[in-house]
Amino acid sequence: MIGALMVVENEIDWQNLKKEITKNLDFNCSHYTDSFLKRRVECRLRATSINNYTDYTSFLLDSSDEQKSLKKELTIHVTHFFRDISLWSFLENSVIPKLIEQKNELGQKSIRIWSAGCSTGEEPYSISMLFHEVLGSNISKYDIRIHATDYDFATVSKARLGSYEKTQFTEINPDYVTKYFDVSGDSYKIKSHIKNLVDISQGDILSKDKPKNIDLIFCRNVVIYFDKEIKEELYVDFYDALNPQGFLVIGKTETLLGPAREKFKVFSVTERVFSK
Ligand SMILES: C[S@@+](CC[C@H](N)C(=O)[O-])C[C@H]1O[C@@H](n2cnc3c(N)ncnc32)[C@H](O)[C@@H]1O
Repeated sequence: MIGALMVVENEIDWQNLKKEITKNLDFNCSHYTDSFLKRRVECRLRATSINNYTDYTSFLLDSSDEQKSLKKELTIHVTHFFRDISLWSFLENSVIPKLIEQKNELGQKSIRIWSAGCSTGEEPYSISMLFHEVLGSNISKYDIRIHATDYDFATVSKARLGSYEKTQFTEINPDYVTKYFDVSGDSYKIKSHIKNLVDISQGDILSKDKPKNIDLIFCRNVVIYFDKEIKEELYVDFYDALNPQGFLVIGKTETLLGPAREKFKVFSVTERVFSK
C-alpha cells in the first residue's frame, strides 16, 4: 500500500520493468537492491496514479518526461555544504595536514582528490574551501585538482553552475559564506578561486575506467543502495585508484566490506576515514 494506492506486485512484471529501465534509462538496475529500486519506483507510481508494474512499464516507454522523472528519482542527490561537520574538522586538523606533510616529504606538489557521487557540487566545493583554509596563501605552492563526478546529468549541470540557496547552508561556518560566495539577492555563487580547483563531469563510479593516482577519495552516501558484492568490488577499486598512503572517506552510516577491510588501515573509525 503506498499512500492511497495499492500496488499490485507481480515478480515477472517487476523483472520486466527493471529490464526496460536498464535498457532505456542508462541506469543499471542489477547494481542496486530490489528494496531500494521498488521504493523509488513506488514514488513514481504514486505520482502517476498507476497501481501496477505492467501499466507503469508501458507508460514509461511512451513518455520521455517520465523517463527523466524516474531517472531523477533513482539517483536521489540530497546533500549540503560541509555535511557531517565533525568529519570536516577532522579533515582540517588531521587528514589534510598529514597529506601535505607526506607530499612535502616526497617533494611533490600535485594533490589529486576525487569526489565520487558529488551530487550538486556542495561536497567538492567544501573540499576546495577547506584546502584554502588549511593552506592559506601557501595554496599557490601546490597543484590541487578536485575531480568531481556524478551519474546524473541534471545534477552535474547544477554543480557546474555553482549557484546555491541558503537551504544548503545548514552546517557551513557562516564566515565561509561571506568569504567564499558572491551574493546576489537569494543566490549564492561560489567564488572563482574556489571553483577553479574543481572539475565536474558526468561519470558512473561503477565503470571500470576510474581515475588513477588519487590522494584522497570521497565516496559518501552513494553506495548505500548498492548490492553487497558491488560495494566490495568498488572499495577494492578505490584502493587501487589511490596513491600509496592515500585516504578514503566514506559516509557516516557506511562500513567497508569485503577484501578492502584487510587492505585499508583505519585512520578514524568515527569519521569513517581509511588510509592505504
Ligand atoms: C545522496 S547524494 C551524495 C552527495 C554527497 N556525496 C554527500 O554525501 O553529500 C548521492 C549521489 O550519488 C549519485 N550516484 C548514485 N549512483 C551513482 C553511480 N553509479 N555513479 C555516480 N554517481 C552516482 C546520485 O546521482 C546522487 O547525486
